[in-house]
Amino acid sequence: MACDLRGEDLSVNLEKYGPWALVVGGSEGVGAAFARKLAACGLRLVLVARKLRPLEELADELRTRSAEVRIASVDMGASNALQRVRAVTDDIEVGLLIYNAGANSTRGNFVELDPSVYRSVIAVTVVGQSEFAHHYGAAMCHRGRGGIVLAGSLSGYMGAPSLAPYTGAKAFSRVFSEALWAECGPMGVDVLHLCLGFTATPAMARLGYDLATAAHADLVAQEALDHIAEGPVWIAGGPQNRERARQRSIVDGRAQAIRAHATPAREPVSRN
Ligand SMILES: NC(=O)c1ccc[n+]([C@@H]2O[C@H](COP(=O)([O-])OP(=O)(O)OC[C@H]3O[C@@H](n4cnc5c(N)ncnc54)[C@H](OP(=O)(O)O)[C@@H]3O)[C@@H](O)[C@H]2O)c1
Repeated sequence: MACDLRGEDLSVNLEKYGPWALVVGGSEGVGAAFARKLAACGLRLVLVARKLRPLEELADELRTRSAEVRIASVDMGASNALQRVRAVTDDIEVGLLIYNAGANSTRGNFVELDPSVYRSVIAVTVVGQSEFAHHYGAAMCHRGRGGIVLAGSLSGYMGAPSLAPYTGAKAFSRVFSEALWAECGPMGVDVLHLCLGFTATPAMARLGYDLATAAHADLVAQEALDHIAEGPVWIAGGPQNRERARQRSIVDGRAQAIRAHATPAREPVSRN
């Protein structure tokens, strides 16, 4: 099925991935791009993020284009996150889970980090992706159709100084997605680990990055939707990002490879 959003041709299989899509981290950046594209294709949406205002603004925008949208202001780092999101999804059929939230906002030597920092990274990415994939994936496998997209990072291919929890959590996400893909595929459910490189998002802007060379959030979301059935891993952003993943995947000489190819250390930065 093809539909149109600002002149683009989009195609999403509603029978396979509908009627509802749940976008965790769906208020801005790549998550908002997913939401706009999926709404334009006729999916109903549940959008989750922490800040209520951007969720409400996006929901209003999509509703003016006739989309049915529910929102939930929930922190994925909270131990009852799944329970709170289930409160708005238990009466609907979620055929597509996009777990996008998970950027890193604090950098520093692991042993100097406040434990709340690494606990949050692990809660949002490792625990959150596991719990949401377990709950929504079980229902999809039972129905024999659906899709799960879990956001990763090129950082998940190699440990990097000042990013130990983040690189470790994204490595978990990739390997976890691969296993899930192998298990769920035969049950009719597509699983895709969406590996992002440097991408222009409000979160990156708030961290002070120069986004001139960053990929467009919109194009990254489109790549994921185009390749959702071609898991287990899609590296967005073209051949240069696939080359980075290759360099970071080398088996022999890891010490040398980390010195040459890991994301460079950066002064600790805190979210504004
Ligand atoms: N941008 C890049 O350069 C880049 C590079 C590699 C990988 N990635 C990956 O791509 C994904 C999206 O990154 P992003 O740059 O857009 O930043 P992000 O901070 O993950 O924000 C994306 C969305 O997630 C929500 N969110 C963030 N933390 C949340 C939490 N604890 N609970 C609930 N919702 C939360 C945000 O809204 P609220 O702030 O209101 O909660 C926003 O809607 C992440 O998984 C990230 O690791 C990004």
